[in-house]
Amino acid sequence: MSKGFMLVCDGSNGAGKTTVIKGIEAYLTSKGYEVVLTREPGGTVIGEKIREVILDPKTPQMTDLAELMLFGAARAQHIEEKIRPAIESGKVVISDRFDAATFSFQHYARGINLQTIETINNLALNGFKPDLNIILDLEPELGLKRVQQRGEGLDRLEVEKLDFLKRAREGYLIQAKAAPESFAVIDASYSQEEVLKRCLEVVDELMGRTA
Ligand code: TMP
Repeated sequence: MSKGFMLVCDGSNGAGKTTVIKGIEAYLTSKGYEVVLTREPGGTVIGEKIREVILDPKTPQMTDLAELMLFGAARAQHIEEKIRPAIESGKVVISDRFDAATFSFQHYARGINLQTIETINNLALNGFKPDLNIILDLEPELGLKRVQQRGEGLDRLEVEKLDFLKRAREGYLIQAKAAPESFAVIDASYSQEEVLKRCLEVVDELMGRTA
């Protein structure tokens, strides 16, 4: 049985995570891996219900701490119910966002202090850590334009001011700089084909490491 591992695709809103995730899934499947796609917040029945609560644009009154704890609750469920069992049975898990998003959005963008973030995150993670975070990096102005072009409406975090998304982007870059072994930053302003090609190079390198 091949060894399971976990990849996270994260970064700026509108940076093209969905396309990249599908491309990585196809690539890994062609190499014989069994791939589980998932997302945060979400990934389980409970997590998807929490996602609806968190992202509902009709409830702007949600406090920062309530938001943080909801992300934490969804993550705790996600890891124990879905991620750990999949990895233990040799599968590759690809998650659309994970804990780096909490540091970026709830700490760097919202301004919740680091100790509170770490307390909630560490409780949720319970010792778990993804093998690699691929950060798709894009100017928030461009990302937001792409999100608006999709015509699906903006969620409770996307209606935040541009400055909020700029701080979140900065948060990812700071984390990547601090832990280069756990992060790969990919410039998402290139064509979809080029972005995917660069992501697959990083995945190849990770497979070499986890083999
Ligand atoms: P998305 O996955 O469709 O991009 O939407 C999820 C939104 O939730 C996105 O704006 C980022 C945000 N988010 C956080 O603020 N903290 C988190 O921990 C996670 C996982 C997502």
